[in-house]
Amino acid sequence: MNDWNYQPPRPSDLGDHDVPLDGEELSGCAVALLVTGGIAAYTTPTLVRALRRRGATVRVFCSSESLRYVSEEALAWASVDSVVTHLGPDAEHLSDSSPFKVYLVAPASYNTIGKVASGIADTVVTATLASALGRLERGNARILMAPTMHGSMHNGILVDNCRRLSAMGVRIIPPRDAYGKHNLPREDVLVDEVIGSLG
Ligand SMILES: Cc1cc2nc3c(=O)[nH]c(=O)nc-3n(C[C@H](O)[C@H](O)[C@H](O)COP(=O)(O)O)c2cc1C
Repeated sequence: MNDWNYQPPRPSDLGDHDVPLDGEELSGCAVALLVTGGIAAYTTPTLVRALRRRGATVRVFCSSESLRYVSEEALAWASVDSVVTHLGPDAEHLSDSSPFKVYLVAPASYNTIGKVASGIADTVVTATLASALGRLERGNARILMAPTMHGSMHNGILVDNCRRLSAMGVRIIPPRDAYGKHNLPREDVLVDEVIGSLG
């Protein structure tokens, strides 16, 4: 039985990219969302909009592997900004002209966690995090990482790397444990983590 009357949607004052504000906890807060090559990358456009709904401005940085699981266009649409996919002459990885308060790595791959913990800065995401760690050490930024991966990748190296980063002040967000995997926590949990990181 068809119960739709085929009317167009009710008009709205919101523009195509706009989000309704659900709170102002992140008002004035510039968040860098660093997306790496976990399959959960496909959920990140909605995460961007969830952060914006609490007032954040979001700039997205993507590893090349992450772009296999989410499109640059969807993230640009969601963030209302270009996505940083390469190290380039504008040096966005240093964020000198408009520093970020919070760096959220979601999903954080085994690979990127390992590189960052080892001081490797060979991609736009790892170079941005090298700079973020320096800012963290000076008390000027927060870094949150949400590791997600298949249970078989949970090994001693990962644990050591997470502990090392945690000792430096990086918040390792506990994953959602389900189906033999460490999955990305729900959006609202990630947004609350960002809000909580600001103290
Ligand atoms: C289908 C598929 C899904 C993957 N999902 C994950 C994942 O959830 N977590 C992870 O750590 N690696 C995952 N990987 C492996 C990473 O993509 C790989 O280690 C890659 O080098 C990560 O690069 P990046 O850290 O520069 O983004 C996956 C690979 C494939 C092919």
